[in-house]
Amino acid sequence: MDHAIPNDSSSLSRRQLLNFLTGATVAATAASALYPATRFFVPPAATTAGGGILAKDKLGNPIPASQILANPPGTRALIAGLAGEPTYLTVQTDGTLSDRGLVDNCTHLGCTFPWNGHDQQFQCPCHGSRYDPEGRVVRGPAPLPLKLVQVVVADDAIWIYPWPGLDPRTEASPWWR
Ligand code: FES
Repeated sequence: MDHAIPNDSSSLSRRQLLNFLTGATVAATAASALYPATRFFVPPAATTAGGGILAKDKLGNPIPASQILANPPGTRALIAGLAGEPTYLTVQTDGTLSDRGLVDNCTHLGCTFPWNGHDQQFQCPCHGSRYDPEGRVVRGPAPLPLKLVQVVVADDAIWIYPWPGLDPRTEASPWWR
């Protein structure tokens, strides 16, 4: 007669395996049942093949161009751009949006900064760097101009793309690539 003590570790392993398989079956069934619901509630990704993304407000809602263009020329509007980076858009004197967006991320140590309309500068509160309206450094310690993104308006939607080609302020390859 075999009075061998059952191998606890192997019976535990079988139990764990059964539990795992049962759990996996339940999870797969739940996932297949929920799939249509999640497809309904999760909007399609707002990206394009060119790496563009819709400009969004702080709640994550797309911002129509008309909402920003309702502001006077010279307005700097802050939106969430590529990878959620806060990005300034500019209303031009002709009532259109500039195709250049400026990322609100100081090139010194990464602080965000406000636009000072009186001085016509972006002024970093952390260590005093200042940038002109095009994002060029006018006072350090910031070592580099602000990162640019491309802004495209189509059917009242604002699309933000990585900046293509050279940095027009330096005529050189962008430092952020
Ligand atoms: S982080 Fe802007 S000046 Fe230092």
